[in-house]
Amino acid sequence: MSKMLGAVSALAISVCAGQAMADPAGCDGDETVVRFSHVVAATGHPKGDAAQLLADTINSEMDGKVCMEVYPNSTLYDDDKVMEALLLGDVQLAAPSLSKFEAYTKKLRLYDLPFLFSSLDGANSYMGSDDAKELLAALESEGYTGLGYIVSGLKQFSANKPLEKPEDASGLKFRVQTSDVAVAMIEALNASAQKLAFKEVYGALQTGVVDGQENSWCNIYTQKFFEVQDGVTETNHQVLAYGVITSQDFLDGLDEDVREQFVSIVDKTLGEANQQVADKEGECRQSILDSGGEIRELSPEQREAWVSVMKPVWKQFEGDIGADVIEKAASVSTN
Ligand code: LMR
Repeated sequence: MSKMLGAVSALAISVCAGQAMADPAGCDGDETVVRFSHVVAATGHPKGDAAQLLADTINSEMDGKVCMEVYPNSTLYDDDKVMEALLLGDVQLAAPSLSKFEAYTKKLRLYDLPFLFSSLDGANSYMGSDDAKELLAALESEGYTGLGYIVSGLKQFSANKPLEKPEDASGLKFRVQTSDVAVAMIEALNASAQKLAFKEVYGALQTGVVDGQENSWCNIYTQKFFEVQDGVTETNHQVLAYGVITSQDFLDGLDEDVREQFVSIVDKTLGEANQQVADKEGECRQSILDSGGEIRELSPEQREAWVSVMKPVWKQFEGDIGADVIEKAASVSTN
């Protein structure tokens, strides 16, 4: 099938599928339906809220041309299936965590390097740069277009026993995303890592399949991980962010003016949403405390002990990412 035919058929499928399924946005049959599938909470979460803001903006500014529907909470696809679904035209937008792109490019391993970004501001400022946009271009050879980033927060460790020193993690099993950088980082703690889909994490923590996990405040709060853990340790050890991805066939199938408007709204809306992340993460952290969860703060010296154990894994991935890329990101992020 030619590229153009593929695009037309993907579009036709998406329009039909949009009509056949529950239609949260009330799309009418003449509009191009954009289905955005993600795995986190629909609201009260940087990604859930960004997806909804994007849908609201598209549905008001592109009414009659494009209609967006959001499917949160893994109701449509897991992150491991959504990339395939994009190429098949079953969904048109997805935003998997950057840890989940290893099968497509190893360049994005950059974002998993522990302690790369010293703050959310640093992560935001790097991800708004042209260098960061260029990294997403590595997905083009696989048929995808990266439209931008959603920043979600910094990651914290939790476990079924108190974690203060890195040695406290020794011998425990942690759930990680599908990322070899995360595995290496956990192994540096003398612990073991198990890759699991997001929707399986709560059950795995509850039943003791794994002892701990690492995630942002809003994931830990909205998925209630804190309820089945001893406590959460404020390590801020890694960024959690997402690549907002569509398929090239889908974009190519849009009329030029529609494509330009769509891409520009996505860009502007993500920029706005990313400005609100620090506040949302602060609220989720507070909600954990208000719900009776335990948060362990680390003194600078205590945190430094985690840095000195985990940061050396950077060397292992320098060849995949590029020493120059790492150096630039690390220098921007500490500004
Ligand atoms: C995870 O799997 O832990 C996260 O990537 C889920 C998400 O999208 O925030």
